[in-house]
Amino acid sequence: MTVAEAIRGRRTVKEFGPDEVPRALVADLLDLAVYAPNHHRTEPWRFVVAGPEAIRALADATGDAKLLRSRTAIVVAQVVADDAVVAREDFAACACAIQTLMLAARALGLASYWRTPRALQTAAAADVLGLEAGTDPVGIVHLGHPAGPFPTPPVRAAGTRTRWLP
Ligand SMILES: Cc1cc2nc3c(=O)[nH]c(=O)nc-3n(C[C@H](O)[C@H](O)[C@H](O)COP(=O)(O)O)c2cc1C
Repeated sequence: MTVAEAIRGRRTVKEFGPDEVPRALVADLLDLAVYAPNHHRTEPWRFVVAGPEAIRALADATGDAKLLRSRTAIVVAQVVADDAVVAREDFAACACAIQTLMLAARALGLASYWRTPRALQTAAAADVLGLEAGTDPVGIVHLGHPAGPFPTPPVRAAGTRTRWLP
C-alpha cells in the first residue's frame, strides 16, 4: 500500500472484530508513531496500551460503555509543558503521532478510531490508566480488524480551502 493509499484508506471505523491486536504489532506501530515531527524533540507523548481487561475497567470506572468497542486501545497522553507555546507545539506533535500510528495501522490492514470522550478527562480514568501527574490525554485510539469491510474513501479536495500566492 502506498502512503497515498493509506491516507485515503484510513477512515474512522467504529466497529471492530473480536480479536486483540498482538502486542508486538502494537509495539511496532508505536515505534513508527514516534517518528512524528516534534519541535525540540520534547517527546511529549505517553502511550498506555489497554487490553480487554483495562478497557473494561476504564468503561466501568467512567460509565462510558462506548469504550468497549474494541479489545485493544491506545491512550495517547501529552506531558503538558509549563510554557504555553511549547505545550501547544507538543499537542500538535501528539496529534501527528496519532495520525502516524493510524496510517501505519491502515497499511497493515488494521482499522482505527480516534475518540476524545469526556470520560478520558476524569480522575477515574487517570487512575485506571495510571497517568503520570502533569499529563493530559489527547485521545484514545481504538484499534483492531474492522468488523466489516473498510469504508470507501470519500472524495475530498483542498481546492476551495486554499489560496495560492505568487
Ligand atoms: C482530535 C479529534 C478528536 C476526535 N474525537 C472524536 C470523538 O470523540 N468521537 C468520534 O466519534 N469521533 C472523533 N473523532 C473522529 C472524527 O469524528 C472523524 O475523523 C471524522 O468523522 C471524519 O472521519 P474520517 O476519520 O473517516 O475522515 C476525532 C478526531 C479528531 C482528529
